[in-house]
Order: sequence, then C-alpha cells, then structure tokens
Amino acid sequence: MSKALDGVRILDFTHVQSGPTCTQLLAWFGADVIKVERAGAGDITREQLRDIPDVDSLYFTMLNHNKRSITIDTKNPEGKQVLETLIQKCDVLVENFAPGALDRMGFTWERIQELNPRMIVASVKGFGPGPYEDCKVYENVAQCAGGAASTTGFDDGPPVVTGAQIGDSGTGLHLALGIVTALYQRTQSGRGQKVLAAMQDGVLNLCRVKLRDQQRLDRTGTMKEYPQYPNGKFGEAVPRAGNASGGGQPGWILKCKGWETDPNAYIYFITQAPVWAKICNVIGKEEWATDPNYATPAARLPHLKDIFAEIERWTMTKTKFEAMQILNKYDIPCGPILSMKEIAEEPSLRKTGTIVEVDHPTRGKYLTVGNPIKLSDSPTEVTRSPLLGEHTDEVMAELGYSPEQISALRTAGAI
Ligand code: COA
Repeated sequence: MSKALDGVRILDFTHVQSGPTCTQLLAWFGADVIKVERAGAGDITREQLRDIPDVDSLYFTMLNHNKRSITIDTKNPEGKQVLETLIQKCDVLVENFAPGALDRMGFTWERIQELNPRMIVASVKGFGPGPYEDCKVYENVAQCAGGAASTTGFDDGPPVVTGAQIGDSGTGLHLALGIVTALYQRTQSGRGQKVLAAMQDGVLNLCRVKLRDQQRLDRTGTMKEYPQYPNGKFGEAVPRAGNASGGGQPGWILKCKGWETDPNAYIYFITQAPVWAKICNVIGKEEWATDPNYATPAARLPHLKDIFAEIERWTMTKTKFEAMQILNKYDIPCGPILSMKEIAEEPSLRKTGTIVEVDHPTRGKYLTVGNPIKLSDSPTEVTRSPLLGEHTDEVMAELGYSPEQISALRTAGAI
C-alpha cells in the first residue's frame, strides 16, 4: 500500500527533540527523510542519557525512526556543495538550529531559493520575532515562557513544569502541520515558503484555556471552578489550579485503594453535570441529587472541596481499575493515573501500534511510542533509527556521485 507522503523528500537538518519529532512524523507518513549529521559526532542525543555504553541512546532512537542518516560537514566547502545538491533534490528542509546558524553556514533563505525555488524551509525556534528571538531554547524554557509553568502546580508551591514535552514534541507537531500545509499550497503556487513554529507560541497555543481564564479573572475577579474559590485569594494573574479541570466540568485527582504504598493509586474524577444523580447514587449520597445546595452545577461550586472529599471516601475503597469499571457503567467520566510501567505493559496499546517494539542492531529490542495519528490508507510501520552515516553512500549514489567521488569526499573530510 502506498503512503500518504510517498515521493516527498525531506532534508532533515534537525537535532535534539523538537525538529526530530516533526521529521519522524513525516517519515511515518511515508516521506523519505534524510537526516544530515556531522561525521564522527552526529545528533548530540545519540550519546546523551545512554543506558548502554557506546550504543545510540533511547533518547535518539525514539525520535529518529524511519529515517536515513548521511554525514556531511556543512562547513567544509566540498561538504557545502553536497548539501547544495541535496537542497536541489529535496522538497522540504527542516531545521532547528540556534537562531542564525543556517545563515552562518551560508544557507540563507535567498540562497536556498536560488538553489530550489520550490523548497519549503521549516524551522523551530525558541521565540518568534521580538526581544528573545536570538535566544537558544530548550523544552522547559518554552514551558516557562509559554504560560504553562505559571499555571501548573499548586497554589502554595512554585511554578512546575510538566513531563509532557509540549515545548519540544508539541512544537514539532505544530511544525509538521505547517509543512504539509505548505506542501499543499505549493501544489497550486508552485513555490516554496518559510514555515516557522516558535516554541513559545506552540506552548501558548496549548495553554489557551489559561489566557481565556486570565480575561475572565480580569473581568470578574474570581473563577468559581478554581480551588482558590470560595475561601482562597485570587491575585492579578491566573493562579495555579492544582488538579482542577481546565473546563466547565469540575474534576480532581482522588486517592484509591493502595495509595499509601502505590504513588499512582489515584483516579481523575469528573463531576459531569448530566451524571450528577448517578454519582450521588454510586457514592451513597442519594440526597445530594435533590438537595438545593448540591443539585445544580452552580450550587455545587462553593462545595467542590467537600464533594471531592466525599467521593474520595468512596474511591479509597476501590482500586483505580475497580473504580473505573464501576464508574464507566454509569457513564461517569474518569481516568486511572497510569504509570509508565503500566502503559508499557498495556496489551491494547501494543495492539493499536501506539506502543511498538523495535529491534536495533546494537541495542537489541526496545519499546517506543508509535504514530499517535492513524491514517486508514497510510498505516505506519515503525522501523529502527539509522546508525550514524549508515546511508551516506546510498544517498550520495542517488544524488549522482560515483564511488570514486564519494571516497574522495570522505578523504577530504567533507562527508
Ligand atoms: N556540519 C558542520 N556544522 C554543523 C553541522 C554539520 N553537519 N550541523 C550543525 N552544525 C553547526 C551549526 O552550524 C552550528 O554552528 P555555529 O554555532 O558555528 O553557527 C553548531 O553546529 C551548533 O548549532 P546550535 O543549534 O547552536 O547547537 P547547540 O547545541 O549550541 O544548541 C539548541 C542547541 C537546541 C539550544 C539550539 O539549537 C536551539 O535553540 N534551537 C532552536 C530551538 C529548539 O529547537 N530547541 C529545542 C531543542 S529540543
């Protein structure tokens, strides 16, 4: 079966996480992704957080599946020429270097356009144009600058970053959408264009409910679904809301049986209005279904703390899975707090290809996250990440270089 992006060739000049996430997705959709790395070194993540000596780290392998690797020293004049040939043969150049690095290498937008006017140049940067445009940025900087950290955590604690890599992988996702959109526009315009996804913008896009809340707070001075209501204090900015739901249906994380020893024996419980009577029945507080202090969503807001304490008395008598089973029978929205161990061992996630086992020549078998986006006519098969420079000769031959030329370029340190 053909793949959605068959025939699209990507010059993958990305490193670390944000850019590689993007190009891995494009590879999963069928694009030919050629990762350009420096000979002898490669993407820095190959050697970061290693769990096996001298073997590509999981950090690298889990972000670079389905790609080919070619080594080019793009600061060497002959290496530069190889990159120019690649630019002429590819549809998209994706990069996430520090601001200005590509220009310093001699590959300005104008130069790339001269070489290939159909080329789409897609970049991740930490910030868009403005006071911080020249800054280098990593995940947690973006989480802080994009509004996530100030709104995550508990009221009485410091800002907290989340384990979800919304700055890196989140921006990679945004960039991938920009690229396929630009490819679509090119089918009519015939021209390439620049695609920019700034990590601050990507994080803010994912935090938009908090900008919504900022304006609600400015207007009314309070937000009744936040844990600060009714007894706590609101300041000028959206406060950290603990585990409160970001939407109109109040929720919280509650202890389940075994919480004393298992740090993940918890469940997320949503007091969705349409099933309030069922919730009351399940927890044995039938009278709350009709009591005017509890019967409507508005009446419940000042009592949320007490309500969740009462529900927790019930959830603590069940494991998170038992609670989930019972609550789902009544369509009460809830979700177990799953540990990474539980997720890794979950058979249904293996069945859907959301978690896949991959075999690697030097590392052996390992687990990775498969494509979370499933296309019925373009199924994803996850193949292992390339070794450093594994495809240099193959790609060079496709670009028209003879074995003698390849060998001479290697001797000159260009590839
Ligand atoms: N041949 C020769 N030189 C190469 C090369 C190659 N194949 N590939 C990269 N380089 C050079 C670059 O030209 C650059 O050189 P210069 O500084 O002399 O111009 C250098 O390697 C390193 O690039 P840089 O991007 O500055 O790497 P870094 O390790 O110092 O910084 C980041 C890493 C992530 C902080 C930075 O790249 C960045 O801010 N990127 C944008 C935001 C981003 O994506 N952040 C998230 C990362 S997950």
